[in-house]
Amino acid sequence: MTKLAIMGAMEEEIEPLLEYFENVKVTEFADNKYYEVNLNGLDIVIAYSKIGKVFASLTATTMIEKFGCDTLLFSGVAGGINPKLKIGDLIIADKLCQHDLDITAFGHPNGFVPGGKVFVETSKELRDVAFEVAEENNISVLEGTIATGDQFVHSVERKEFIESTFNADALEMEGASVAVICDALNVPFLILRAISDTADMDAGFDFDEFLKSSAKNSADYMIKIVKKL
Ligand code: ADE
Repeated sequence: MTKLAIMGAMEEEIEPLLEYFENVKVTEFADNKYYEVNLNGLDIVIAYSKIGKVFASLTATTMIEKFGCDTLLFSGVAGGINPKLKIGDLIIADKLCQHDLDITAFGHPNGFVPGGKVFVETSKELRDVAFEVAEENNISVLEGTIATGDQFVHSVERKEFIESTFNADALEMEGASVAVICDALNVPFLILRAISDTADMDAGFDFDEFLKSSAKNSADYMIKIVKKL
């Protein structure tokens, strides 16, 4: 690894990461800011993409193609589906899918388009490091499937569709698009999320209340992972 990318989607998701660094070089590109820092000799680029799959794809591609990052980590929050996941709990994706990608009209499964795949797997090596760090620090983290879509999910019906169709453990709005970019560009990547809500009728209320604390849980663990790389 020569340069590391760390992404979030919202400012609140990268704020607790940036707090760790004193010398930050800011570069503006494509209507966004990229923060270049160094940790024990490792060059790191940090950015938040803005919400959703399109902005996340742009930021991931920029970090890889313009800034030369060769490993990508994502830290942020998610809606919980698996009942084992309570607000504040951590999940690392072993694979991700797009729950809103739908050409079932032509006989294809949900989440599939020709030339693509329903599930994109994350780097086993990075997951191994993350779980080693979790064990050493007594951090509890679930490994599971994350479903991504351009929707803030706040209904039992939609949540149940995503659970039954993809067997997903959590959902959010960027991970699978970052996964598609990294997979296509051969860049190992890790997607870490902390639960901010449970994607049902109270989701909007819980999200507002727990965004900051859950984003910090994810960021604190992410910094420990980075120190181990
Ligand atoms: N990220 C955090 N909570 C979410 C939700 N309920 N839907 C989509 N993305 C989320």
